[in-house]
Amino acid sequence: MPLSRRHFLKTSAAGLASLLWAHQTAWSQAADTLGLKDLYRDDFLIGTLVNVPLLIRQPPELMSILRRDFNALVAENLFKWEYIHPTDEHWHWVYADEFMALGEELGMHRLGHPLVWHSQLPPGLFFDPKGEPLGQSALLGKLENHVTTLVDRYRGRMHAWDVVNEALDTDTDWVPNRWYQVIGADYVEKAFHFAREADPRATLIYNDYDLWQPRKRERLLSMLDDFKRRGVPVDAVGVQGHLRLHHPDLAELETTITAVAERGFRVHLSELEVDVLPQVTDPEAIAFAEYRPELDPYRDGLPPQVEAALAQRYRDLFARLIGLREHIDRVTFWGITDDQSWKNDHPIPGRTNHSLLFRRDRSAKPAYHAIKALKQAEI
Ligand code: G3I
Repeated sequence: MPLSRRHFLKTSAAGLASLLWAHQTAWSQAADTLGLKDLYRDDFLIGTLVNVPLLIRQPPELMSILRRDFNALVAENLFKWEYIHPTDEHWHWVYADEFMALGEELGMHRLGHPLVWHSQLPPGLFFDPKGEPLGQSALLGKLENHVTTLVDRYRGRMHAWDVVNEALDTDTDWVPNRWYQVIGADYVEKAFHFAREADPRATLIYNDYDLWQPRKRERLLSMLDDFKRRGVPVDAVGVQGHLRLHHPDLAELETTITAVAERGFRVHLSELEVDVLPQVTDPEAIAFAEYRPELDPYRDGLPPQVEAALAQRYRDLFARLIGLREHIDRVTFWGITDDQSWKNDHPIPGRTNHSLLFRRDRSAKPAYHAIKALKQAEI
C-alpha cells in the first residue's frame, strides 16, 4: 500500500522523535554511570587520599568508588617524615612503594605529601646522636638528604610533590618553627631547589591553608613574587579546601585562585572537605577541647536540611571551580567516606562529622549528585 505524503511525514516525525528520545536516554544513562573524573575530564583531575588501612585492605566497595570517581591520589600520612624516615638511618618504604604501585595500577596522578612540614616529625630530628641540638648547616644537610632521597627514589613516577607545607604566617612572615629557627627562612626555597634537582619533571607545589584570608593571601603573593623574581622553582600552589558550610566566602577563594594564576602559577585545590559541625573558635577552647554531646549533634545522621545545605555548598564551590578551570589542575578531596575524615577528631576528638561525598555506609550523598549534575547538565 503506497504511503501518503501526510502519513510519511507523520511516521518519520514520530520515528525521528523516538530516535532522538533513545539517543538522549542513552546519553543520560551513560552520564549516570560516568564517574566524577569522567564528567570533569575537561576541567581538572579529581583526587582523593588513601590511608594505610585502605592501602592494606583495599576493601572492594571503596575501591570501586575510587576507580569510578577519581583519577588522582595522595597519601594522607604515610609520606610524612615521622612515618617514612623515622630515624636518620631508617627509611620505611613499604607503604610508600605500595602507594606508588596502587596509583600506577589504577593509572592515576600521584602526589607526594609533604616533603617539609613542622608537624608529624620524628622526635630525634633536630638533634645529633649525643642529643645536642643541630646547628644550621647540619640541619640543612638533613633536609637535603631527606628531600633528595625521597624525590629521587620516585623520580619519573611521582607526578607532583607538596614540597613545603604551611610555612607562611601573617604576623611573623614565616611560621616560627624549628626549621625557621635553625636554618632561617631559606629552608623553604632550599627545599624547592633540592626537589627540582632530584626530579626536574615533577610539579613542585607550595601547599597551605586559609589562603582565602586577605592577609594570608597577601603574604602568599609576596612570597610568590619574590620566588619568581629569584627563580625559586615553585610550579603551583596547593590551596587547601578545609571549608565550613558558611565559611569562607567563595568569592575570597576565587580572588586567591585568580591572583595566583595571574602570577603564572598553577592551582591545585587540595585537602577538600566541608565541616558541618558546630565550630569551636576560641584558641583556648580548641587547645583543651573536650567532647561534649551538644557539640556533636549529628551522631545518628544528617537532618535533611543540613544534607541539602551541604549539597548546595559543594555545588556552589564546583560551579566556581568550573569557571576557573583554566587555572586549576586538580581538585582533591581529603577522604572518600565520612568515617575517614580527620574532621571527626579535630579540633574535638570523637565527633561524628559528615564532611565528604560518601556516607559511612558508602552510599553517595546529595552533595555527590549535586556536583555530578552540574556537568550532566552539559551533556
Ligand atoms: O599513628 C598513630 C597511631 O599509632 C595511634 O594509635 C593513633 C591514636 O590516635 O594516632 C595515630 O596518629 C594519628 C595520625 O593522624 C595517623 O592516623 C595522629 O594522632 C593524628 O593527629 C594524625 O592526624 C593527621 C593530621 O594531619 C596531623 O596533623 C590527619 O590524619 C591528617 O588528615 C592531617 O592532614 C593535614 C595535612 O597533612 C596538612 N594540612 C592539614 C591537614 C589536616 O590537619
